[in-house]
Amino acid sequence: PAPLGDLAKKHHRYFGSAVDGPGFADPAYLKLLGSEFGQLTPANAMKWYATEPERGVFDFTAADQVVSFARAHHQKVRGHTLLWHNQLPAWLTEGTWTAGELRAVLKNHIQTVVRHHKGRIMHWDVVNEAFEEDGTYRESLFYKTLGPGYIADALRWAHEADPHAKLYLNDYNVDGIGPKSDAYHRLIKQLKADGVPVDGFGIQGHLALQYGFPADVRQNMQRFADLGVEVAVTELDIRMRLPATPEKLATQATWYADYVEACLAVEKCVGVTVWDYTDKYSWIPGVFPDEGAALPYDEHLRPKPAYHAAKAVL
Ligand code: XIL
Repeated sequence: PAPLGDLAKKHHRYFGSAVDGPGFADPAYLKLLGSEFGQLTPANAMKWYATEPERGVFDFTAADQVVSFARAHHQKVRGHTLLWHNQLPAWLTEGTWTAGELRAVLKNHIQTVVRHHKGRIMHWDVVNEAFEEDGTYRESLFYKTLGPGYIADALRWAHEADPHAKLYLNDYNVDGIGPKSDAYHRLIKQLKADGVPVDGFGIQGHLALQYGFPADVRQNMQRFADLGVEVAVTELDIRMRLPATPEKLATQATWYADYVEACLAVEKCVGVTVWDYTDKYSWIPGVFPDEGAALPYDEHLRPKPAYHAAKAVL
């Protein structure tokens, strides 16, 4: 049977997976990771705490492991992420910074990381989760110290360091049309008008059965495409309250298929990434108590109904 990645390729899309450290010690996991998927995203290895654990001291060990594996298996790589309010090193969050100092720290971080991987990264999630649910700017260290212009600056610095990488803004709860996705629509429109290098909108796609399938997914993707940027589904998982039942798994399967179909229906939707492929390594149970079973393979690496449903629409 053809792998998801190969099937997606026939539609000029990719189908990818996130991967994290523990998976690299698991041969059965790696076998599927290398054969089934056409794209990888490091779940943690490119975050600031991992790449610049001390000021000016960079560590690319974990990131290079992902990039080397991907290259060996002819997989594309999404770089995730340059600026985010979470998983920052203590030296950064505990420091007191003038705007001038923080700008210099940001520029050095972005350009050192992007330069290190230059030519090997298809997309960079340059800024992750910049907005609140109501569409106001998140009061991150970056926003509070530098104002909203930090986003345009970050994009320009990243572009300078690797002009061929496509630069994305990425967030969750932006699947449908609403205040948060509206904020991105306005921002990307403005960035484009100002000539700022922005190429894509990343829709994380962390869904939960109990909240219902988001409305207007395709229309939302299309309105970003109409601004002249690509769209990618960057972190798809569909969690449920445990225990999983055949009914819940069947609903989940439909949702996976519907999400993949939405991407196929929008020409500028370039691909779908699941936030790891197996329930064995999903981040969900660690963060959402009593929830899980969010991915297309179960914890024994067996394909679930969701896997077959996604495949059926590809
Ligand atoms: C998650 C990782 O999967 C976890 O291992 C980590 O403990 C926390 O971060 N949105 C994002 C991702 O953009 O970076 C997050 O990844 C999940 C939510």
